[in-house]
Amino acid sequence: MSADPTDHASPTKAGPPAARLRRFFDLPGPKGLPLLGNALQIKPEAFHQILEGWTEQYGALFRFSIAERDFLCVSDPALNASVLKQRPEGFIKGPRLVQVCKELGFHGVFSANGEAWRRQRQIVLAGLDPAHLKTFLPSIEVVTARLRARWFSDAQSDREIDLMTDLMRYTVDVTTCLAFGRNLNTLEGGDHDVIQQHLNVIFPTLARRVLAPIDFERWLPKPGLRQHVEALQGAVQKFIREERQHIERRPELMQRPENLLQALIAACDRESAGLSDEDLSGNVLTMLLAGEDTTANTLGWLIWLLHDHPDEWKRARNEVDAIVGAGQIPRSTDQLSQLDFVEACANEAMRLKPVAPINIVQAAHDVVIGDVAVPSGVFVTCVMRPAGVDANRFDEPKAFRPTRWIDGTHAEGERMMGAKRVVMPFGGGPRVCPGRYLALAEIKMVMATLLANFDIAQMRTPEGGPAEYMSLTMSPVGLTVHLSPRAVSTSS
Ligand code: HEM
Repeated sequence: MSADPTDHASPTKAGPPAARLRRFFDLPGPKGLPLLGNALQIKPEAFHQILEGWTEQYGALFRFSIAERDFLCVSDPALNASVLKQRPEGFIKGPRLVQVCKELGFHGVFSANGEAWRRQRQIVLAGLDPAHLKTFLPSIEVVTARLRARWFSDAQSDREIDLMTDLMRYTVDVTTCLAFGRNLNTLEGGDHDVIQQHLNVIFPTLARRVLAPIDFERWLPKPGLRQHVEALQGAVQKFIREERQHIERRPELMQRPENLLQALIAACDRESAGLSDEDLSGNVLTMLLAGEDTTANTLGWLIWLLHDHPDEWKRARNEVDAIVGAGQIPRSTDQLSQLDFVEACANEAMRLKPVAPINIVQAAHDVVIGDVAVPSGVFVTCVMRPAGVDANRFDEPKAFRPTRWIDGTHAEGERMMGAKRVVMPFGGGPRVCPGRYLALAEIKMVMATLLANFDIAQMRTPEGGPAEYMSLTMSPVGLTVHLSPRAVSTSS
């Protein structure tokens, strides 16, 4: 229970006087049908846009329902931050998410609650901290060099590139280096069939089942799903067995693990009350679940936005040329940390196109959010984008203006200090994304490689830009490019 006076969502007894509170069921909201509630108004692939539309219509706090589940929708950034801060005790991951993750083999730090979450979080955090990232950079560099080689080959043959497919392969390869302790090399077709074909079926199933009004697939799974789940489990068990043998040969890895899988195995084997074998495999797969789509989709949106803004593209390229060198790829975390403008571009892309535009939690007990008394069990949907595109907080809020993220270089500098707390692409509170340093490193690696080595000869998108498609995360649809090699020496 939090007594923090900055908390705007507090357990009932610490909140405003009961007489001034609104009751959850009196809140405004879209009219629904008996039994179904608003289920028929919600298309899962546009869920975030529907909630953003309702936010404009009904305000920062409103209610809706999907079958028997009641939802409070919150878009005020202070309220959202406060809700996210009161985890894991005050707000939990809902039973549907936990159940589906368990069935599909992905139950780990992302879906765990309470003590189980706390234990797993410590281990995952240690594997993803900035210090680890440094030792991990050479592997990211190898994967980045493969992406560059693939794009060179496409550019020289004037082949159209399905950008999102390449970016997904890149993030899978980077994440598996970390999570499995090996490079699957899906970029060059390596073990692509083993992993990627299963993920392509399992990830959409997970998203569909979590968002569906009624989880029919629990009783009627799609044909073939079980085989994909079992095959993926088999592959992961094999990686774990091999890594265990590796540790047997080099026992010092128990004390100084070199990748996340080793850290998880060490924790699992060391503490009797620690992690089970199931936790181990669940967390390995959780890394793929949390690290693939998020980073690839953020890169997709960023590449599109930067291409659409030639002045910003030029400035980013000048920065990369000065720090990394034309025709090169970044070689150190030091170089990455100097790419301030590229990072500002990423922040601006995540403000306009947050790939996790909603974050759903469940009230673990009666709670007050703002001036609303919310009963235990209600799902709280934090809608993250409206605050980031609010004209009261940002000048020209819909415009792509990366300079607003560079302190002191812009009239908005002072307001932006506050705005960093308003735009929360990585979530907030104790469950804030532990992969954010890795994600930013990947984003800067790919952007620097693209800017230093290629020109975008042509980009094809639907009229008005790529459509937003919500599945596990919000992806850009219909993004294809033709690259051409930049006219500089590329020997590196
Ligand atoms: C641009 C890329 C990424 C974005 C935008 C992103 C965003 C998020 C968000 C919004 C959350 C929920 C936070 C909350 O509930 O407050 C989250 C959780 C998480 N992310 Fe990321 N993420 C990214 C990349 C990654 C990567 C690369 C990894 C690791 C390989 C990762 C691992 C995780 C994990 C394990 C969690 C669950 C944490 C917990 O519940 O304790 N993410 N991420």
